[in-house]
Amino acid sequence: MDALGAAGLTLSLAHFAFPLAYYAYLKARWLGRPWDLRLDPGYRPRVTVIVPTYMERELIEGKLENVYEQDYPRELLEVLVVDGASGDGTAEAAREWAGRHGDLRVEVVVEPARRGKAPALNEALRRARGEVVVVTDADSLWPRSALSEAVKWLSDERVAVVSCLKVPGVEEAYRGFYNTVRLAESKAWSTPVFHGELAAFKRGFLEEIGGFSTDVGTDDSYTAVAAALMGLRAITPEGLACVEYVPRRGYAAWRTRRAQHLVQSFAKALRRLRGSRAPRRFKAVLLAEAYLHLVNPWLLLLAAALLAASAAAGMVLPAAALALGALLLLYKPYRAWVATQAFLVVAMVRNLWTKELVWRKQRKS
Ligand code: GDD
Ligand code: MN
Repeated sequence: MDALGAAGLTLSLAHFAFPLAYYAYLKARWLGRPWDLRLDPGYRPRVTVIVPTYMERELIEGKLENVYEQDYPRELLEVLVVDGASGDGTAEAAREWAGRHGDLRVEVVVEPARRGKAPALNEALRRARGEVVVVTDADSLWPRSALSEAVKWLSDERVAVVSCLKVPGVEEAYRGFYNTVRLAESKAWSTPVFHGELAAFKRGFLEEIGGFSTDVGTDDSYTAVAAALMGLRAITPEGLACVEYVPRRGYAAWRTRRAQHLVQSFAKALRRLRGSRAPRRFKAVLLAEAYLHLVNPWLLLLAAALLAASAAAGMVLPAAALALGALLLLYKPYRAWVATQAFLVVAMVRNLWTKELVWRKQRKS
């Protein structure tokens, strides 16, 4: 075999070995561990649920209904819909729904113009009166106990942020892998990847950090990292899983944008890692995840290029490795993994000219 082929094989092994080793480590070291938290079952704070909306006419009523059906005491709940001047009747539908449900306090705020999700959340934060603030996207569904579960975990003094795991959907055959990783990272200290379906914060913490960053696309993940870097915990506990709708059209654009946001979050988090108050084991988690999101995808691309060059020069083993890599695409979890790597690579390149902080609406109903 030539040097190109050898390098290609080495890189592809490294690409797959690191995540598997990280997974095995988390599973063996943290997954089965206790939480090391002091929960207070009597904690019943006032909760403000924030639903940012842009063109959500078809989903907003179902979303409000879903919040209404929570088993959390309704008199302690307040809902803020912050609409980015949708113009499709989202705000009107929300107001009309509120009129029919007088026993839940709902406020609908319409911004003068669309500004993006994070600025909308900051607008809502200025009006929120709950001790706990829960952000939820219109295109998501909660189990009935979601709020009480989130509040339960926030009752520990050091927990500043709680998010949900994801009910395995059709789009990700390997959700179980991710849920395991998020859960184990949460137990170790905190996980740097959160979900817009449910992100529950202590309002005091949000005010301390000056609200949501408007220069990164992930209001959820980046804020979780910010908490962990301050020495607080940001967790996705077991027993709290949400559903997110996946767009039928524009799937690739959707995945690319989300990857762009995550990349932005990790890049910003790395710049703040030095001198942070996070425990060492969280720094290790953050470095591993940053490596997985920012570096590891390139290894696969490079490996494929090297193997192809070597195969083109007539090398048998590299050609066989490449063929095996292609054949494995028939296996769904592997295909999903490779697709994620591709989206991350495209995202990093695309971030060079656009951050997609105000994004195109993908229909999900
Ligand atoms: N007010 C307002 N203004 N709301 C907006 C705007 C805006 O400009 N843009 C989007 N929203 C609302 C949407 O209506 C939806 O309820 C929520 O914000 C999330 O938008 P989606 O379009 O559904 O985003 P997504 O599901 O693809 O991405 C989510 O996850 C990403 C990563 O996990 C969002 O939470 C992203 O912020 C996040 O980066
Ligand atoms: Mn969504």
